Formats: sequence, structure tokens, C-alpha cells
Amino acid sequence: MIEIKNITKTYSNGDITFTALKGITFTINDGEFVAVMGPSGSGKSTLMHILGALDTPTSGQYLLDGKDVSSLSEVELADIRKDKIGFVFQAFNLLPRTTVLRNVMLPLIYEGVPSAERITRAREALISAGMNESHFEHKSNQLSGGQIQRVAIARALVNDPSLILADEPTGNLDTRTGEIVLGTFQKLNKEKGRTIVLITHERDVAEHAERILFIKDGELIEDSKNHKQRIAHTE
Ligand SMILES: Nc1ncnc2c1ncn2[C@@H]1O[C@H](COP(=O)(O)OP(=O)(O)OP(=O)(O)O)[C@@H](O)[C@H]1O
Ligand SMILES: [Mg+2]
Repeated sequence: MIEIKNITKTYSNGDITFTALKGITFTINDGEFVAVMGPSGSGKSTLMHILGALDTPTSGQYLLDGKDVSSLSEVELADIRKDKIGFVFQAFNLLPRTTVLRNVMLPLIYEGVPSAERITRAREALISAGMNESHFEHKSNQLSGGQIQRVAIARALVNDPSLILADEPTGNLDTRTGEIVLGTFQKLNKEKGRTIVLITHERDVAEHAERILFIKDGELIEDSKNHKQRIAHTE
């Protein structure tokens, strides 16, 4: 599904240039659960933006389902993001005085999905993200950090994307809530066959994946199967 071939990314601000990715090559098959690890500044978010078609590499090739992403127009890229990819960012951008249910329905409203179907799909996504129904009508500024995280996951899932990209999704959660979120990803991966790429700098978190890629100074330094996959403690 994902084929990255010798990708580089150089940022230029005026005279200053910085190469954040220095030639990275790997393949991720459909239905894999992969963690990307590496120290701060190693290029993880840069890589995620490229995988998510939010940014383009400076050189190299990115094939998503056999399509060369580097050659697509802005409109085609937007369609891929909308149809195929669910993003979980660290900064969630929920609308504060809007209910949980409506926050999750937003992507469907933009897509013109009819109202009754929107509600059903948003409710299903929230339930599969581990959100308790009693919170569906809460405003997002009345939620705990872990609940916000689950709303963000639900919103990423509501379009039923085949690829889920999550950048430090458990970064600011306590261990227990983090385990619930990781359990949700494992379930989506095992039961629905979703492909998941999870960025983290914590080994404990990465060990929930089947495979771990290590990035350092913009280079892929290790790509290994995780033989002792941790099972999340859900509830
Ligand atoms: N827009 C930009 N312009 C210039 N340099 C950038 C830009 N975005 C990122 N960088 C640099 O590229 C390098 C990689 O950044 P990136 O955000 O990918 O790191 P990261 O591995 O996600 O780090 P963290 O764990 O802290 O989130 C960093 O040195 C960063 O300063
Ligand atoms: Mg980052």
C-alpha cells in the first residue's frame, strides 16, 4: 500500500536550508500496524506529513496504492486525504463550544452526507474510539484530555479510512488512558484490517505495534518486527 523510495525533504527559509529526511526507503503493506520511533527532531512528523499527502518530498518517490503521490494535483491530493486517510494530530482542533457528536460529524457535513446517516456514522465512530455514549452531547471544552483524544480518534475514523496516521496520539495522556487509545488502534487493526502508522518517541507505546521503524537524524536506522507485541489493557 505505502511505498517510499529514497525520499528526501529539505526545508528552505530564505538562505537557510535544512534536510530533515535524507533518503528513506520502506514499504508498508495493507493491514500492518507500524510504529515510527526516533528522538525529537529526527523527522517523524515530517515523514507523517508526506505519508498523509499534506506535504511533498523534495526528491524520491511515494506510491500510495500504486499511485505516484508526487505527481498528483492539489485537488487529487485533497481527495486522497479525504477518502483514504484518517489523521490523529497532537493538537486536535476540536471546536470548543460544539458537542462531541457534532465535532465528529463535521467531516461528513463537508462531504454532504445526509443528516441521518451522519449521526449514525458519527455515533459508530465514537463507540469504536471507546467514547461513552453519555458524553456525546457534551461540549468539547467539558471533556478530559483522554476524552478529547477519543473524540479526535473518532473524527479520524468517521470516514472509515483505510490508513490511519497518528502523531504522538498518547503523548499527553496518563498511562491508563493511553492504553485505552492504543487498544482502540489494535482493535481497528486486528478486527477491521486497518493500516496504522503511529508515531511515538516512547518504546512502551511503540511495542503495541507489530513492526517498529527507527529514525535518527533523518535516516531510517532500523526496521524490525516486534516479536513481543504488547496487548493494551483496555478497562
Ligand atoms: N517548516 C520547517 N522549516 C524548517 N525546518 C523544519 C520545518 N519543519 C521541521 N523542521 C525541522 O526538521 C527537523 C525534523 O522535524 P520533525 O518535526 O519532523 O521532527 P520530529 O521527529 O517530529 O520531532 P518531535 O519528536 O519533537 O515531534 C527538525 O530539526 C525541525 O526543526
Ligand atoms: Mg513531531
